[in-house]
Amino acid sequence: MRTKFIICFVFLVSVFIIVRENKFISKVSDRVFTKPRTLPEAGGHWMNVRENGSIMTVSYPSEPLHRYFSQKPENMHKPGKGELPASRSNGRKHILLLATTRTGSSFVGELFNQQGANMFYLFEPLWHVEQAINLAGVRTNYTVLSTAYREVLRQLLLCDFSLLESFMKPQPQDHVAAFLFCREFSQSLCEKPVCTPYVKKVVEHFHCRKRRCAPLNLTLTSQYCLQTQHTAIKSVRVQKLETLRPLVEDPRLDIRFIQLVRDPRAMLASRMVAFPSKYKNWKIWAKTSTIPDDDNNYEIRKLKGNCDNIRMSAETGLERPAWLHGRYMLIRYEDVAQFPMRKAAEIYQFTGIPFHSRVKDWILKNTHSSSKFNRIYSTKKNSSQQMDKWRITMSFELAQVVQKVCGPAMTLFGYKFIENEATLRNLSTSLTEERTFL
Ligand SMILES: *[C@@H]1O[C@H](CO)[C@@H](O)[C@H](O)[C@H]1NC(C)=O
Ligand SMILES: *[C@@H]1O[C@H](CO)[C@@H](O)[C@H](O)[C@H]1NC(C)=O
Ligand SMILES: *[C@@H]1O[C@H](CO)[C@@H](O)[C@H](O)[C@H]1NC(C)=O
Ligand SMILES: *[C@@H]1O[C@H](CO)[C@@H](O)[C@H](O)[C@H]1NC(C)=O
Ligand SMILES: *[C@@H]1O[C@H](CO)[C@@H](O)[C@H](O)[C@H]1NC(C)=O
Repeated sequence: MRTKFIICFVFLVSVFIIVRENKFISKVSDRVFTKPRTLPEAGGHWMNVRENGSIMTVSYPSEPLHRYFSQKPENMHKPGKGELPASRSNGRKHILLLATTRTGSSFVGELFNQQGANMFYLFEPLWHVEQAINLAGVRTNYTVLSTAYREVLRQLLLCDFSLLESFMKPQPQDHVAAFLFCREFSQSLCEKPVCTPYVKKVVEHFHCRKRRCAPLNLTLTSQYCLQTQHTAIKSVRVQKLETLRPLVEDPRLDIRFIQLVRDPRAMLASRMVAFPSKYKNWKIWAKTSTIPDDDNNYEIRKLKGNCDNIRMSAETGLERPAWLHGRYMLIRYEDVAQFPMRKAAEIYQFTGIPFHSRVKDWILKNTHSSSKFNRIYSTKKNSSQQMDKWRITMSFELAQVVQKVCGPAMTLFGYKFIENEATLRNLSTSLTEERTFL
């Protein structure tokens, strides 16, 4: 089984090398991302959809590579000019919640998870892909990684776990996984029928909390998924919205993207608390008020890259290109924190799925009483206080660095710049401009 993963990985890398050798990337992305209807005879569509609905991807790693580059375009779905492909999703909606860490994406994901039996919800399945590629110890180009992410997402949205399985370590035996990352955050995986009776003692990481279940049977999970009405997946790993364009053009999917963003200053402050070892240097800089004035600094470049990716994805979405029409929504953490019920209603309206009273009840319960979300999402006044907590502790110098590095993103999302420490600390001054992104 390990060999299967290695073959799969080697295939990904080989595709990358071939693509690189032939300087195909720009051609491929031009064709795949902007002019999908005029694909060339060879190359570029190795990750595309066959007429019968199956996908030409890394899922058949043992096949010779040339097969992927010699498929004839007539095998592919060809919608008319300017026409959105007619969806053959049979009323199923496919929702991708795209965020970065510390933006409240668990809470927003919960709005779908709480929908109950008509929703199949997955929490960060791409963790396995990232992990597998990191474990392989090869530096990968995001082009390769994003293709793997997209194809895994495509299959999962269609209730197919086979490609994800090839990235899971240890490899599932008979489609039974030793563990699935954060299984406990998905009701679909922790309720009947997917939660099968716990029999013998096996240690499963991320096991369900409410009840003990047997290790996850992915065959059963897939069968159950097909019986549900809709699918929602939350991910903090997709960096560029454009990379998901082929999903919009897949006639089997009726997809909606929800991008969740947050004030980058608050994100940094929150990450410093949540991931102290990764943010060691930031903590030292905050303490000593010495911040390297160096654009080549690794940490600063990383923050910039992160902000730029978020901004560019949002720009793509907000420009409303024809291919994305009606399928993109931008929401800000700060708005959700202040008006959770109103925002949830807007989100449901956007998805076209009825806003179930179960979800409303859950919001009421979890924005008022003591729960794990309460500290962030309580009543308007309190959640505003919680939302602004970072302003009491963050050093003004750090806030300034973020403003410099993430300025364009802040402008786009309507986060106000501050000029002095007094404004940072004065919580009566809101740092969030009123904006609608519709
Ligand atoms: C990935 O590889 C392609 C092809 O060589 C190249 O054009 C692109 O810039 C690379 N991307 C990154 C992020 O290195
Ligand atoms: C679709 O066609 C390909 C070959 O063209 C075949 O290998 C594959 O099994 C088919 N898939 C289904 C679901 O029929
Ligand atoms: C997993 O579930 C399927 C479908 O219910 C079943 O046929 C199969 O035997 C199960 N696998 C194991 C290992 O229990
Ligand atoms: C909100 O905060 C205020 C003071 O900080 C407190 O008195 C009040 O009980 C809180 N409300 C809720 C619902 O927690
Ligand atoms: C805090 O901000 C409010 C609103 O902008 C302003 O009216 C008030 O004077 C400020 N307080 C201090 C101490 O600067």
